[in-house]
Amino acid sequence: MTTYLVTGGCGFIGINLVRALTQRGEFVRILDNLSTGKKDDAKLPGIDLQIGDIRDLGAVTKACEGVDKVVHLAAHTRVVDSVENPQVNFEINAIGTVNVLRACRSASVKKMIFASTGGAILGEQEPPVHEGMVPRPVSPYGASKLAGEAYCSAFHGSYGLNTVMLRFSNVYGPYSYHKGSVVAQFFRDLMQKKPLVVYGDGLQTRDFLYVDDLVEAILLADSIDTPGEAFQIASGRETSIRGLCETIRKVIPGLKFDVRYELARKGEIQRNYASIEKARRMLGYTPKTKLDDGLKSTWQWFLSFLGEPLHNR
Ligand SMILES: NC(=O)c1ccc[n+]([C@@H]2O[C@H](COP(=O)([O-])OP(=O)(O)OC[C@H]3O[C@@H](n4cnc5c(N)ncnc54)[C@H](O)[C@@H]3O)[C@@H](O)[C@H]2O)c1
Repeated sequence: MTTYLVTGGCGFIGINLVRALTQRGEFVRILDNLSTGKKDDAKLPGIDLQIGDIRDLGAVTKACEGVDKVVHLAAHTRVVDSVENPQVNFEINAIGTVNVLRACRSASVKKMIFASTGGAILGEQEPPVHEGMVPRPVSPYGASKLAGEAYCSAFHGSYGLNTVMLRFSNVYGPYSYHKGSVVAQFFRDLMQKKPLVVYGDGLQTRDFLYVDDLVEAILLADSIDTPGEAFQIASGRETSIRGLCETIRKVIPGLKFDVRYELARKGEIQRNYASIEKARRMLGYTPKTKLDDGLKSTWQWFLSFLGEPLHNR
């Protein structure tokens, strides 16, 4: 049995990963400050939940004691919030990540997997984006994640820490009810019979990745050694926001809704999808879930979850 620390393990991706790890019989500790994550979602047998903040080196050092591997997910995750408050974003994503790396080093952790981002660190580039491109973040969120990657690379180079950076695309799926990302926002709005709000002309594109495929990529990066490497983890498909609205209409028959267009938001990129060739080649990664199927399962999850009023969670 391997002991894992999952920072941010009470969040959307965290809960999905923690469930997969416990199903494999691994021992999991979570470090989370519950700023967006929910304690109840992590109430699984055998989980050691430590409530603390990654900005607190003492808390991170304690959480790393006796740990074999760390998946570092805890972060200030919203582009729009980072534009409003770049300082907090820097403290959580850059300093917090350095704290996690320092604690991994002190505890002789065997591997540290860092949750990075594809679109936000690279900025406006001609897609498909790939690992060979020079990053040009256009938001403080992208800049802080790039700083996190730089420190992961540096801790590998300077101290031999086995770090790997996974650049997630736009992830959707169960347990995302609190997220500001587009699929979660649309599904919350649909549950409340509100129109879907599209910022800009809706022709902007994203690469939507179902969370099970992301968890599979994390498990592959865990099992295969590629120290100091960065990988795009995405579906490899480009979907416009208008296209997403149409797919939702198709996969949820009978659901009637309007789409309202508003001004584009600052710091958001126009086109994004990724090449996943490197992850395919070096990790054997192949995303399996089609957008239609992923949206159907996510909608089913929202329906079952929102049996309870949202404000109770
Ligand atoms: N969801 C996506 O589409 C996506 C895309 C690219 C990258 N990522 C990255 O994946 C990771 C997980 O994202 P998510 O979508 O699950 O977000 P989330 O907000 O659901 O989860 C983040 C978790 O971290 C915790 N947290 C936040 N600040 C903390 C702090 N200072 N100390 C301790 N815990 C803290 C929150 O309580 C939450 O449980 C993040 O690093 C994010 O930047 C996510």
